[in-house]
Amino acid sequence: MAFTFFFRDTQTLEYAVKILTPEVAGRSRIRVWDAGCAMGPEPYTLAILFAEEMGNFSFKNLYISATDIDETDQFGKIIQEAVYSEEETKRIPPAIFAKYFEVVEGDPVRYRLKNLIRERIQFQKHDLLTLKPVGENYSLITCKNVLLHFQQNERIEVIKMFHKSLAPGGLFATEHTQKMPEELSHMFQQVVPDAQLFRKVEVLS
Ligand SMILES: C[S@@+](CC[C@H](N)C(=O)[O-])C[C@H]1O[C@@H](n2cnc3c(N)ncnc32)[C@H](O)[C@@H]1O
Repeated sequence: MAFTFFFRDTQTLEYAVKILTPEVAGRSRIRVWDAGCAMGPEPYTLAILFAEEMGNFSFKNLYISATDIDETDQFGKIIQEAVYSEEETKRIPPAIFAKYFEVVEGDPVRYRLKNLIRERIQFQKHDLLTLKPVGENYSLITCKNVLLHFQQNERIEVIKMFHKSLAPGGLFATEHTQKMPEELSHMFQQVVPDAQLFRKVEVLS
């Protein structure tokens, strides 16, 4: 199983959500792509952060496309059910946990994300190395703890694909230890000094 957990590196995700929310207010469709989403804790964390930041009206217009190569063929089912164990949910801040999860009776007891959050995520199996995007016009693409598994030339091609798939001025988020390759530095501008969060820069093709 892929290693992931709820509220992992929230600083980067929080920056993205706080910066994006006022920029997309009033849009009828706010598109986000979580590439390499594993079993769901990351896209669900993102949806919760958006729910906390956005009003109800904007939040209903949020569509998170969660994708993964999913070699186990289980992520789709896990994400759709959105039921997680005590162990998996223990890092979630208590007030957030109480607000967005409900108890699934049984032994051991487990917890399900409420429909409000579940409805915002759509899972799709997808291999990033095909370099074929799952969509376009994304306001945010997050790809965390995935690119490190690729060769440098693959990483460059995948990030170029993200650039093409972003809406004008869209944001790209990756993990702290992942630096933007020098070859692509003209395509993105770092948004804050303490997170790997970048804004798309238009380039002449
Ligand atoms: C360490 S997990 C990271 C999960 C999540 N993004 C996080 O940061 O918590 C890496 C994920 O990348 C996925 N992955 C690896 N190669 C991939 C590829 N070529 N295309 C799409 N997903 C891939 C794995 O299946 C795994 O779920």
